[in-house]
Amino acid sequence: SIKSLTYSSSSHLIRRRGFATESVPDRKVAVLGAAGGIGQPLSLLMKLNPLVSTLALYDIANTPGVAADVSHINTRSEVAGYVGEEQLRQALEGSDVVIIPAGVPRKPGMTRDDLFNINAGIVKGLCEAISKYCPNALVNMISNPVNSTVPIASEVFKRAGTYDEKKLFGVTTLDVVRAKTFYAGKAKVPVAEVNVPVVGGHAGITILPLFSQATPKANLSEEEIKALTRRTQDGGTEVVEAKAGKGSATLSMAYAGAIFADACLKGLNGVPDVVECSFVQSSVTELPFFASKVRLGKNGVEEILGLGPLSDFEKEGLEKLKPELKASIEKGIKFANQ
Ligand code: NAI
Repeated sequence: SIKSLTYSSSSHLIRRRGFATESVPDRKVAVLGAAGGIGQPLSLLMKLNPLVSTLALYDIANTPGVAADVSHINTRSEVAGYVGEEQLRQALEGSDVVIIPAGVPRKPGMTRDDLFNINAGIVKGLCEAISKYCPNALVNMISNPVNSTVPIASEVFKRAGTYDEKKLFGVTTLDVVRAKTFYAGKAKVPVAEVNVPVVGGHAGITILPLFSQATPKANLSEEEIKALTRRTQDGGTEVVEAKAGKGSATLSMAYAGAIFADACLKGLNGVPDVVECSFVQSSVTELPFFASKVRLGKNGVEEILGLGPLSDFEKEGLEKLKPELKASIEKGIKFANQ
């Protein structure tokens, strides 16, 4: 964990509690949409990550200020801001991980699907640039609707001849973060110890938390499990309504995005047993993309783990989500190919 490490900037070495030393490879991370509600706190959190050596902050406006601000923090990475399409190439070149929180967020009354037309176009353009300038990078897609933007990215990469299904991730970590928090509160167990897989997709009922597999075990009633499931599925809407027109989740999303990017970097660096849930190309179900537990490694996805045993309620939820998730995937593929 980051806590057990101290970083020595002169040698680029990490000393693990004074025992062995090992070199930490240079890693460039690019954040596209870095000046936004998610982008700014996410850029801050990535600046705090000792695995990052270069941090490229890209947006269509305001990145010079964000980059100047973040760059004064005395941690390892060199920070640079890039603004406007003519600087996108420089922002992307040499990137190991590209995180995409670019796009418009939801307002009250909107579903993630309502964002489709604007965000689909933004994501398509950014992915075309990724296929040109850093085709080997791991892509962490945050822009909604993730159920469609990930298929869009895959089609763009396929057309460019750069698609590697092991390197494209829909970030569903916020669903996991919420499921953990809500479960810990209800089950009265220490939140830091909680694990809950969340599978399916990243919108409404396509978000399927598997509380039957939650640890530490707790004796929750069926009613309590149903309420926790609903709250996890509606977590985004809870924030959208509380913000009353001022956007959607940004701070918790930045946290979740930073956790997922850190897992990708650890995988790239060869740390064993890095497992996170993510929306990836998958054969876990008959759908071409599906979120489940994924083992991360030196090439991105190392192994997609199965769903494990499901309760009857979860089995029902799984069947219910498939038509909606299928439609969102197809909508993305169709958009990319029109
Ligand atoms: P925001 O509007 O505050 O920020 C978006 C940023 O993207 C702005 O700075 C804007 O200038 C930038 N942008 C627009 N077009 C761009 C382009 N072509 N290239 C680069 N940057 C561009 O929005 P916020 O709240 O940060 O949300 C961003 C996205 O993340 C939305 O699509 C939102 O729905 C999604 N989101 C995803 C979550 C998830 O769990 N995956 C959770 C919450 C939000």
